[in-house]
Amino acid sequence: MAKKTLVLYFSVNQHTELLAKTIQEKIGADIEAVHPVEEYPDNYNVLVTMIKEQIEKNEIPAAKALEHKLEDYDTILVGTPNWWSHIAPPLLGLMQANKVEGKKVGIFATHIGGGIGGIEEAVKKEWPDNDYLESLEIYGDGGSNRDRLVDEWLEKVNLK
Ligand SMILES: Cc1cc2nc3c(=O)[nH]c(=O)nc-3n(C[C@H](O)[C@H](O)[C@H](O)COP(=O)(O)O)c2cc1C
Repeated sequence: MAKKTLVLYFSVNQHTELLAKTIQEKIGADIEAVHPVEEYPDNYNVLVTMIKEQIEKNEIPAAKALEHKLEDYDTILVGTPNWWSHIAPPLLGLMQANKVEGKKVGIFATHIGGGIGGIEEAVKKEWPDNDYLESLEIYGDGGSNRDRLVDEWLEKVNLK
C-alpha cells in the first residue's frame, strides 16, 4: 500500500494553517484542522488571557472528532502555534484522545519569536512511541520565505 501522510494542525490566525496547506500541497498529503468543541473567542486579547489561564490551570479542552483516521497514515505532521511556549491546548486534547504509535511524526510550529518552546517535548510526551523527524519552526506565516523554508525542511526530513 502507498505511504500516506496526514497534515494535522490547529490554527486561529491562519499562520499555522498557511504553513500546513503549503506543506500539504507540496507533498500531496491529506489535511485536517483540529477544532475545540467549545469555540475560542474572536477577540485576540481575550483569547491570549484565556489561554494563559487554561495553561496555568492545565485545562485541556476537548477537540472535535477527526474526519480522518490516524491509524490509516504512515506519517503524521502535527502543526500548532506557540501559545505561551506551549502546544495549543485543543491539539493536546486531540492527541490525548487519539494515541498513535509506530509512525513517523513531524512537528511544525509558528510563533513570533519564541521558537518551538516546549511544543516538541509535549508532542513526544503524548505520543512517545514514534519515529520523530526534525521539527520545523517558522516566524509568523513565513511570508516570502515560507515556500523556500518548507522546501528545505521537506528535503531535510526526506518527505520530498
Ligand atoms: C494565546 C497566545 C499565546 C501566544 N504565545 C506566544 C509565545 O509564547 N511565543 C511566541 O513566539 N508567540 C506567541 N504567540 C503568537 C503566536 O504563536 C503566533 O502569532 C502564531 O503564528 C499564531 O498561529 P496561528 O495564526 O496559526 O493561530 C501567542 C499567540 C496567542 C494567541
